[in-house]
Amino acid sequence: ALLGIDIGTSGCKALLIGTDGEVLAAHTAHYGLSQPRPGWTEQDPQSWVDGAREAVAAVMRKCPDTELLCIGLSGQMHGLTPLDSGKQVLRPAILWNDQRNAAEAADLTEQAGGLEALLAQTGNRMLVGYTGGKILWMQRREPDLYRRLRYVLNPKDYLRLVLTGEVATEVSDASGTGLFNVMERGWASSLIERVGIDPALLPPCFESHEISGRVSASGAALFGLQPGIPVAGGGGDSVIQTIGSGVISPGELQTTIGTAGILAAALDGPSPSPDGRIQLFCNVGPSKWHAMGVSLNAGGAMSWFRTVMRGLGHDTLDFDTVVAAAETSQPGARGLLFLPYLNGERCPHPDTDARGAFVGLTARHTAGDLARSVMEGVIHAFYDMRTLMQPMGISGKLIKASGGGARSALWRQIQADLFDCDVVTTEGAAEGAAFGAALVAGVGVGVWKDVVEAAATIRELTREHPDAAVGTVYRKAHTIYRGLYPALSESFC
Ligand code: XUL
Repeated sequence: ALLGIDIGTSGCKALLIGTDGEVLAAHTAHYGLSQPRPGWTEQDPQSWVDGAREAVAAVMRKCPDTELLCIGLSGQMHGLTPLDSGKQVLRPAILWNDQRNAAEAADLTEQAGGLEALLAQTGNRMLVGYTGGKILWMQRREPDLYRRLRYVLNPKDYLRLVLTGEVATEVSDASGTGLFNVMERGWASSLIERVGIDPALLPPCFESHEISGRVSASGAALFGLQPGIPVAGGGGDSVIQTIGSGVISPGELQTTIGTAGILAAALDGPSPSPDGRIQLFCNVGPSKWHAMGVSLNAGGAMSWFRTVMRGLGHDTLDFDTVVAAAETSQPGARGLLFLPYLNGERCPHPDTDARGAFVGLTARHTAGDLARSVMEGVIHAFYDMRTLMQPMGISGKLIKASGGGARSALWRQIQADLFDCDVVTTEGAAEGAAFGAALVAGVGVGVWKDVVEAAATIRELTREHPDAAVGTVYRKAHTIYRGLYPALSESFC
């Protein structure tokens, strides 16, 4: 069997699959996150190790006679795990959603020679969440600790160190540091030196399927595993989960409706987004790249709406009840449009001050219309991202839906109608990044020739077809929706 381990933000998931891709066992161990100041998010790397020990022990208990062929790692991206020369953790890890380093991210962009020059060197903007700005923040704000800093690791790469003793990363997570030349699949050395970061801080970088090390004697003792099991490079969660949905060929898109919303596609060549609004990362296949837009407001917008309605006395309002209310409305929510930017936005509009709005309200609108416009607004945002992806050569001929929001047939149908293509759900996608990590581990030891062959094992569960007439209604509404952010952005404060 193959073992995938995902170091998530709220917990660690371990997942065992057979060599036919079938899920044999899964377990998630939960842990917390600390917010020492507003906008700061940190985690003690030891909680990842403890979570992984619990999750791995649980899946191995469920399948006691399993021979492990390989382990694949995935995890939350962009996290800074700082280690000293003895490979001891210097301070709690600074996570992907931490907002403390806006000034450093802007300075890095300037030092790189501006946005265009940065895009030419890395393929990406330096987003506030990325590791690069966090390293600079430590250099400026914690100089004593910074002097002792010898290694900078992403969260899953810290687990690799504990399991194997190796300091290493792989191309997809390295892409999310903002210090990596995604086009050339190597560290952006001249940029790193120019901004005053010691290149030796950054680990050697593998391709995702390559074997980066083997379970050491101490790793084996800690995790109750046999020593010597190979550990593949693995991948950053939002990249490797696309392979778990089988999104690898041109024309396929993955939508993920979790708290955030992700639209992702695989590319056969490194084609940067002209203005960097779409993230371009190395994919988990060696000659594949990954394009992605991340909206901060997808399932989260729906949760907000439920909370508001509960506040009005609907104590038992669950997700399915809100969807049922939305079904009583009509495509286009009878002229009501919802902008979902409740927490500011990353993509399609990189604007921390962006705000949400209902536009077109009349006295005849019902709670069902409001619910429907929230659901539609989230898909309009995905459609905006797809427009941004078009100059990169990305089209959408098939959507593979994942995340909690994919449970709703209505939400899938809205995608099919607006995008005018089929929408499918697939087995294993619900297991998220750990499933992709297990598949990539399989490629690492030759169970599958490559990620394309691994993805072919994935079975389809549901399929929605587009309705042409409804699609026309949605696309007409989309032209109005597209004009709303530019028209309203001056009024957001
Ligand atoms: C990707 C991103 C998130 C994190 C959280 O750019 O910020 O998907 O990886 O898991």
